[in-house]
Amino acid sequence: MNSIFLDSMKRPEDMARITTPQQANAFIDEVVGAVRAQVGDRKVLLALSGGVDSSVVAALLIKAIGKQLVCVHVNHGLMRKGESEQVIEVFRNQLDANLIYIDATDRFLDKLAGVSEPEKKRKIIGGEFIDVFAEEAAKLEGVDFLAQGTIYPDILESDGGVKAHHNVGGLPGGMTFQLCEPVKLLFKDEVRVVGEALGLPHSMVYRQPFPGPGLGVRCLGAITRDRLHALREADAILREEFDIAGLAGKVWQYFISVPDFKSVGVRDGKRYEGWPAIIRAVNTTDAMTATIEEIPYPLLHKITDRITHEVEGINRVVMDLTPKPIGTIEWE
Ligand code: XMP
Repeated sequence: MNSIFLDSMKRPEDMARITTPQQANAFIDEVVGAVRAQVGDRKVLLALSGGVDSSVVAALLIKAIGKQLVCVHVNHGLMRKGESEQVIEVFRNQLDANLIYIDATDRFLDKLAGVSEPEKKRKIIGGEFIDVFAEEAAKLEGVDFLAQGTIYPDILESDGGVKAHHNVGGLPGGMTFQLCEPVKLLFKDEVRVVGEALGLPHSMVYRQPFPGPGLGVRCLGAITRDRLHALREADAILREEFDIAGLAGKVWQYFISVPDFKSVGVRDGKRYEGWPAIIRAVNTTDAMTATIEEIPYPLLHKITDRITHEVEGINRVVMDLTPKPIGTIEWE
């Protein structure tokens, strides 16, 4: 069979790009064949974060090897509101996947306590992930592969030294897993086309991306549980209001970051010191560059009003107007 996609592994920049369902199906056929050949009758462990990339990898691998895929969803305590529940609903209940759910919130937050340096936080979260998976793998028979939702921009940016993305390489010595990264040559928009061709729900395939380290890179500086809780609640309000305003399917990525300093405010006639919530809403096709979405002022006022009244600990809302470059999309 002539390969359009996989023969060019060594030169991804020469690969045919995927924009149509036909191209997606050709890609899927090639990957399914390649994964079956690679894996045989052995088992694959997948870090299923619930983001677009890992969800599409899960669907690809379910198609290729069914129950030989063991999906592990680690709730690291850095998920968005309601997200772990949704992963269980879609993958365990609807797609009948082999899914293990682990609530590792305390383990992650204890390790992160007092750590403020962004790269150190990323490395702790990535390292802890690997440890959790290794522990899960040790409990299972015959798991030889670790599947990951690495996409091409992750590799480019890691090569360029911009950020240490947790899902690029980095397996500690002694680990016996081989990597299975079926979408590592694709850009995000291509992953979405493939996801739709695989029959995943539109709402899942087009949901905005969420970084592996989750709210950990949005709860800026040293993470505390109270500020993390405030961030999660404020983010849920932002998402709800974008949904209502019809922006959810239009804006590529939007979220809140909460820094680790307070300002003076007044609530109910009393001094009220709180953290600022920073809104970021960007558009991009490949996440390598990004422009700012112009949010209507009435909507910004409504979001500000809701967050400052409904979220304990937040007393200001500000908007980040910085394109990428010079700002990366995430603050850390
Ligand atoms: P940056 O901040 O590098 O983000 O401009 C580009 C896109 O990548 C997401 N992102 C990550 N995704 N693991 C991921 O899977 C990570 O460690 C990670 N860091 C950033 C970010 O949300 C944006 O969509």
